[in-house]
Amino acid sequence: MILSKRLSKVLDYIDNLDIVADIGADHGYLSLEMLNKGVQFIQVVENKIEPLKRAQLTLGFPNNIKYSLSDGISDLDEKINTVTICGMGGLNIVEILNNNLSTAKRLKKLILQANSKVYELRKFLNLSGFLIDEEEIVYEKGSYYEIIVCHYDEFSQTNISEEELFFGPILLKKQSLDFISKYEQKLNLYLNILNNNDISNNEDIESLQNNINLIKQYVKGDWYGQN
Ligand SMILES: C[S@@+](CC[C@H](N)C(=O)[O-])C[C@H]1O[C@@H](n2cnc3c(N)ncnc32)[C@H](O)[C@@H]1O
Repeated sequence: MILSKRLSKVLDYIDNLDIVADIGADHGYLSLEMLNKGVQFIQVVENKIEPLKRAQLTLGFPNNIKYSLSDGISDLDEKINTVTICGMGGLNIVEILNNNLSTAKRLKKLILQANSKVYELRKFLNLSGFLIDEEEIVYEKGSYYEIIVCHYDEFSQTNISEEELFFGPILLKKQSLDFISKYEQKLNLYLNILNNNDISNNEDIESLQNNINLIKQYVKGDWYGQN
């Protein structure tokens, strides 16, 4: 089975010392490839029965898989040291972590891929003492996906800047081609909205202008001549 580019990138961060809970596993494709990669035990977690059944169809019932019909990380097996939480909204991921913060804090690795509200997710991680170890941006079928790998560090005093929250501290440093393309697209979109007077609300105009300024200031694109 061929994994999507997005989930393949998530898989890159998994090694065979990880004992993983795949939260919101749905079809179970990521879990299957983690097993193929040498992961010894996986807890497959779903909060709905139909997706859980889909995962069971993909994975069957080997001894090294435990299925849980439960909410987020509320019922993690004690031996789990890594979680993947992928393909969900950022606020849902925040809720999953915040509802069981002590469990999230004891994990050695959290691999998070939010489909939206990544700024809010980074802000939550930063305020709660999680350190971002790795970040990646992946372009697939017309969408950009951001992957965050992090862990809790009780000694972290990470006051990351507004631009690091907005772009991602590591993505901002790396400035990959996909990263630059994403913000080229966004800048064009924002400028079009402003130039066509598509918004009337002052707050929205301010936030749009703020985003435009951030992109022009921090992304290494060729913005010459764009107002
Ligand atoms: C869009 S699918 C993503 C599937 C897979 N992780 C991926 O990235 O392709 C999101 C899945 O997360 C599950 N989900 C959402 N909130 C959840 C929660 N609080 N606990 C467990 N599963 C959850 C949904 O039922 C759904 O199957």
